[in-house]
Amino acid sequence: MSKYPKSISRICCIGAGYVGGPTMAVIAKNCPNIIVNVVDVDVERIMGWNSSDLKKLPIFEPGLDKVIQDTRGKNLFFSTEISREIELSDLIFLCVNTPTKNRGVGAGKAIDLKWVEICAREIAKFSKGHTIVVEKSTVAVRTADVLENILNANSQKNSFSVLSNPEFLSEGSAIEDLQNPDRVLIGGVDEKAMDLLKEIYANWVNEDKILKTNIWSSELSKLTSNAFLAQRISSINSISALCEKTGADIDEVSKSIGADNRLGEDFLKAGPGFGGSCFQKDILNLVYLCEFFNLPEVSKYWENVLTINNWQKNRISKLIVEKLFGTLNGKKIAILGFSFKANTNDTRESAAIRICLNLLEEGASLFIHDPKVQKNQIENEFKNQQMQNNSFEIKSSWQYSENINDAIQDANAVLILTEWEEYRSIDWKDKEEIMSSPAWIFDTRSVTEEKNLSKTKLNFWRLGNINTANN
Ligand code: UDX
Ligand code: ADP
Repeated sequence: MSKYPKSISRICCIGAGYVGGPTMAVIAKNCPNIIVNVVDVDVERIMGWNSSDLKKLPIFEPGLDKVIQDTRGKNLFFSTEISREIELSDLIFLCVNTPTKNRGVGAGKAIDLKWVEICAREIAKFSKGHTIVVEKSTVAVRTADVLENILNANSQKNSFSVLSNPEFLSEGSAIEDLQNPDRVLIGGVDEKAMDLLKEIYANWVNEDKILKTNIWSSELSKLTSNAFLAQRISSINSISALCEKTGADIDEVSKSIGADNRLGEDFLKAGPGFGGSCFQKDILNLVYLCEFFNLPEVSKYWENVLTINNWQKNRISKLIVEKLFGTLNGKKIAILGFSFKANTNDTRESAAIRICLNLLEEGASLFIHDPKVQKNQIENEFKNQQMQNNSFEIKSSWQYSENINDAIQDANAVLILTEWEEYRSIDWKDKEEIMSSPAWIFDTRSVTEEKNLSKTKLNFWRLGNINTANN
């Protein structure tokens, strides 16, 4: 008898985070015949996923609440019963955190596989028969090898097929990306296991978009895709500074570049620097790989993408200090937006973290508003960053503002860091009256509209634009 099931009927996903939650919800929606169990060690997170109030789901993602409403309790379940679900499942997705290592060999660059390893040991311990293990978390190249070794070394009776199936969803449009992916990548050597995974996706994804590769190609494709995307952002951000010097307008330049079919229009929006859990981590990992394989020129090349990203954040905070007469002491700055991009409550690696810390270090008093980010999240981001850099201690020089007006009241400056829709429609004529004078608007996301500013006396600076930069 074949060790493989005829088709997959029960899936377990370890890790109920930004990747695991939405991905499994979309699989459950498109595969009503498959039971999908998402498990996590974080009890609070699981309670959030099971909350009857869909506004309390642990992550905010447009359209996610509807998919959860349609599937939860039918064929989608969230629990902390890790061992039980491992035992009962034919296929296990690994969607656990894979941060950058902070100590030991490869510290600051390589991916920390601690959580992946723990899961592999759990799977080896509790699985029954033959299990397909699918790595979905961003992992280091050759992780599949590590996984296979641990699984086989810790389990005599059972067998495993390890596949790589990297996730390409982008936060803020995760449901749409999952429902209509550009491609689904399945890397592996075991053809039968690959076909079983392919069958799941084929329920809603056109078969010609499901690409089978060897396992290393699949792992490296994920790192490289993210590195290429990040590289485009650093490229356009570097040109934004040149625009400010020369009189070119970055949005016009982006549009012209993007009109070239060979380049395409996506990922050419200048901003305060890319954030999110993937780009920096993946580039650091790529840099580490290149160093490891003695390719110093290649590693330097990719490292520069990060250098420009950090430079962009620091140059924005420096510019604000200059415009506000060289000091921020005793000045109030309203920060609009803290998430790393609009339509997500995720703040990991958000440009706002470094920029705000720079401003606080200069003595500013910050009032931070974000429609979806909670106060304690901001607190944690500041603490983490300070621990990493061993920098100064923040006392009470920042406050959380529940609404835009509270943040802006008496402010000397407003700094827009995330492109939330509600910031686009702000009528600056109204806001001018409640701000301190002379007041500045610093727009790093090009969301302010000319018509809402033209009748005001506010000083205005927009990233990548000379007319306003010289106000
Ligand atoms: C990224 C990849 O896009 C996705 O394929 C992968 O699976 C995970 O990493 P994500 O980090 O969720 O997704 O968001 P993305 O839309 O890529 O944005 C990342 C950062 O780049 C954000 O801070 C965003 O504001 C910034 N960005 C993006 C720009 O500054 N300009 C752009 O033109 C695009
Ligand atoms: P991502 O953006 O990659 O989804 P998150 O941090 O949002 O990352 O989610 C990863 C999830 O994995 C967290 O909720 C974490 O609690 C969970 N996790 C980590 N290790 C384990 C483990 N050994 N068993 C179960 N869940 C785990």
